[in-house]
Amino acid sequence: MVESITIENPLLEGLQEEKKPESFSMVIFGAHGDLTKRKLIPALYALYLRNHLPENFAVVGSSRTEMTDEQFRATMKDSVIRYGEDIDFKEECWERFAKSLYYRPGNAKEASYYSSLDEDLKEIGKRHGSDSRNIFYLSTPPSLYLPIIENLNSSGLAVKRRSDEPAWPRVVVEKPFGHDLKSALALDEKIHAVLNEHQVYRIDHYLGKETVQNIMCFRFANSIFEPLWNNNYIDHVQITNAETLGVEERGAYYEEAGALKDMIQNHLMQLVALVAMEPPNSLSAEATRDERTKVLKAVRRFDPDRVDSYAVRGQYGAGYVLGNEAIRYRDEDKVASDSNTETFAALKLEIDNWRWAGVPFYIRSGKRLEKRITEIAVHFKAPPHKLFSNMANTGLRSIMADSSPNVLVMKIQPDQGISLKFATKQPGPTTQLRALTMDFKYGTAFGDHTPSAYERLILDSLIGDPSLFARSDFVETSWSLLTPVIEHWAAVSPETKSGSDESIVQGPFPNYEAGSWGPEASNTLIGSTGHSWRVL
Ligand SMILES: NC(=O)c1ccc[n+]([C@@H]2O[C@H](COP(=O)([O-])OP(=O)(O)OC[C@H]3O[C@@H](n4cnc5c(N)ncnc54)[C@H](OP(=O)(O)O)[C@@H]3O)[C@@H](O)[C@H]2O)c1
Repeated sequence: MVESITIENPLLEGLQEEKKPESFSMVIFGAHGDLTKRKLIPALYALYLRNHLPENFAVVGSSRTEMTDEQFRATMKDSVIRYGEDIDFKEECWERFAKSLYYRPGNAKEASYYSSLDEDLKEIGKRHGSDSRNIFYLSTPPSLYLPIIENLNSSGLAVKRRSDEPAWPRVVVEKPFGHDLKSALALDEKIHAVLNEHQVYRIDHYLGKETVQNIMCFRFANSIFEPLWNNNYIDHVQITNAETLGVEERGAYYEEAGALKDMIQNHLMQLVALVAMEPPNSLSAEATRDERTKVLKAVRRFDPDRVDSYAVRGQYGAGYVLGNEAIRYRDEDKVASDSNTETFAALKLEIDNWRWAGVPFYIRSGKRLEKRITEIAVHFKAPPHKLFSNMANTGLRSIMADSSPNVLVMKIQPDQGISLKFATKQPGPTTQLRALTMDFKYGTAFGDHTPSAYERLILDSLIGDPSLFARSDFVETSWSLLTPVIEHWAAVSPETKSGSDESIVQGPFPNYEAGSWGPEASNTLIGSTGHSWRVL
């Protein structure tokens, strides 16, 4: 039985506060899309069900498909029943919730749409008491973000507030935020011309995951780990995001993105920052985001002439994943038959600061791998004196069966929890060591419902807490860091040797079998410092 405890730590002040937003009107652009059906409306309904929404609110769906309010409500009801995994659907509760749902069809590129939207919002706002507290959720193809921002501005729906004024209206922007540094800067420039940064919520749904939020709690609410959290005790860090799925119906999008832009630039860089950041002096949004950005800025810039010695790319060929036959990436729908888009990327990062000097961070993300798993593994150094491995030579009846160093694993998905590997003596007359793990599992410890990342993020955006959103300087630093890799991969085909002595031979594509752990080059990358990827 796990008992709840109250931790007295000034850093954690405010954590127990009940969060409830003021009344609001949320416009979802792209309401006919996949994300709205699978995540946004189920999350809003879950928030309502759990009494996190105010009494008065309205949600207005917007996209081109013609639908009445009633049709929209019926479609969303089906979606909640179908996709609301953990949600206890209650008809009567849904009926009350659905009264706040509206739909206004129109083309988000057309200025005329916004004058009628403005009128509708005024009227809906009066009915639901949201008093011009409008929040615009951009869940459209990314090419529409700029036109929507511009149209919101020219219609008067977006108004720039001073940073000491309440952040209404506000905008939530889905990923991807730009497709490279230049486009991210251009998008930010336009947004900042129309809205102040505190009115902008850039989604990185990894930050909304409970297990990801727990990284800071684990590090800064426990005094036993932080003293070890540095280059004196940590040997290296591995961050893995492995998916068994291929690109599904998202071939056209993925051809433009690839693993580096789709996963590493945003989600994995946020994980690196959370593991490596310094303790913030408070839990305020600015203090935590300052620290996340500061450590990302300390990541060593990649030498454009040596990209192939610290970055590896791969693309899956045919194979078997979880016993099922899988086609090669180049045969997927809407993918070019000679595509050089990477479905796997691995990087070696070095952080040039006092805490992390000399500790490599290895990160990898790939599709069609053997298992679905996302985790952070912190590998500690071996004990300075190998007492047990020496005993075999002393004539004592002692055997060192497993001398592998301690590893602390933060499991993000599908299993959620933390495990610590340590050596222990196996019972018996000899001193034989065995590696065991201490495991904490969210499901076992906390049992019931874990809020989805979107529940948390939508709630925070309504309350006006941007802590778990990506700030512009973080996004830009991340794009800037990856620019040499993006440019090298765009200019040089994977089978071309880059010339430098340490460069790792990677191609030609496809260079890994579906259902494997990625290209051999990824093992060479981590092997360059005498390490190997964890067996998962
Ligand atoms: N799906 C996910 O799991 C996921 C995860 C993370 C991030 N995202 C991001 O979230 C955004 C939305 O993703 P999605 O998967 O929902 O995309 P989607 O299924 O393509 O939906 C986008 C919707 O936007 C609407 N739209 C397109 N052009 C429009 C226009 N000119 N005016 C008004 N509406 C227009 C379309 O509806 P109409 O045809 O009716 O106009 C379409 O259904 C993307 O930026 C994506 O990268 C998605």
